[in-house]
Amino acid sequence: MNNALFKDIINTIRSLFGSDDFIPLHIPIFSGNEKKYLIDCIDSGYVSSVGEYVNKFEKIFSSYVKSSFAVAAVNGTAALQVALQLVGVGQNDEVLTQPLSFIGTANAISYCGARPVFIDVEKTTLGMDSQGLKGFLETNTYVADDGRCYNKTSKRRIAACVPVHIFGHPCRIDKIKEVCDVFGIPLIEDAAESVGSIYKQKHTGTFGLLSIFSFNGNKTITTGGGGMIVTDNEDIAKRAKHITTTAKVPHAWEYVHDEIGFNYRMPNINAALGCAQMELLDRYLANKRELAEAYKNYFADTPIEFVCEPPACRSNYWLNAVIIRDRTERDAFLKHSNDNGVMTRPCWRLLSSLPMYEQCETFALETAQWLEDRIVNIPSSVRL
Ligand SMILES: Cc1ncc(COP(=O)(O)O)c(C=O)c1O
Repeated sequence: MNNALFKDIINTIRSLFGSDDFIPLHIPIFSGNEKKYLIDCIDSGYVSSVGEYVNKFEKIFSSYVKSSFAVAAVNGTAALQVALQLVGVGQNDEVLTQPLSFIGTANAISYCGARPVFIDVEKTTLGMDSQGLKGFLETNTYVADDGRCYNKTSKRRIAACVPVHIFGHPCRIDKIKEVCDVFGIPLIEDAAESVGSIYKQKHTGTFGLLSIFSFNGNKTITTGGGGMIVTDNEDIAKRAKHITTTAKVPHAWEYVHDEIGFNYRMPNINAALGCAQMELLDRYLANKRELAEAYKNYFADTPIEFVCEPPACRSNYWLNAVIIRDRTERDAFLKHSNDNGVMTRPCWRLLSSLPMYEQCETFALETAQWLEDRIVNIPSSVRL
């Protein structure tokens, strides 16, 4: 690979974004009713965790993803922590997840006092490899008389499994669910990045017992900061609402809290943004799909591989990604693009290699390491 190719890539990205200025990786776009709803929210005085926009955002969101319930939270990490607690993850449990993900996935597990166990990912989906998951469970765990799964070596309970829909590309969630069901392991989807992504005709985040989404400023749609817990289980949804609202028992004037809850409810002012952004979501998804198509066509004639949506999926193409020959070439491209005002980023360092998680159990992480060495994210914002 040579400098001429790198220059050509930069020129192509510049022409796709029609800009000679700095091109960021992903910026929020507010092109609808955002200001109107924010002003309405301020005028009403309901800017905090009580207000109609929060309830409305939950309704719109659950109906968009076709789940029975959605509970809004302050961010995706808090939503995941609560989701884990709701399936009973606690002190000294283990939670299966993937090493290729944002730090929030592993941190939420730690907040519950549990430890992540890292299972490899697949090259085609970037998500957890169901065969690797099966291999780990068959070799290293057993199902006890209580019907729960335990790690043979550590003797800890495997209390949940959290696969991730990376960059919005759906993982093979039905296969992962099949394996989890055999071993009695609750499935929670980390769908933080995948609003608008469909797997076999169903929205991501509707396969597990619960799932979570993020509306951070870098996501396809944003509430500034925000998250959502999604489930079809009414009891779980009620508990989610209760413990994200300080476990306050409804009463006309008294302050009674019946357990240690969290102040995790999404504020109304953030939900106002969310309601406006939901009105734009389908337009943004179509816009991002056009960009992905243009990248796909361009990279087809280069030695660089563009990461396409997996078969049977419709990805939201949140962050477009390419796979470069090796780590040396990857670093050369990162330097060239960032030096030339086009923001690109490597994939996250594998969670299993970070100081807080390097002692955690891993199961054959060859593909994750291969991908970490090669993936680069390229500008992916909605183009107006
Ligand atoms: C895969 C993944 N999980 C969890 C999170 C946490 O979401 P938040 O940043 O809203 O806490 C994010 C993103 O930000 C993410 O990308």
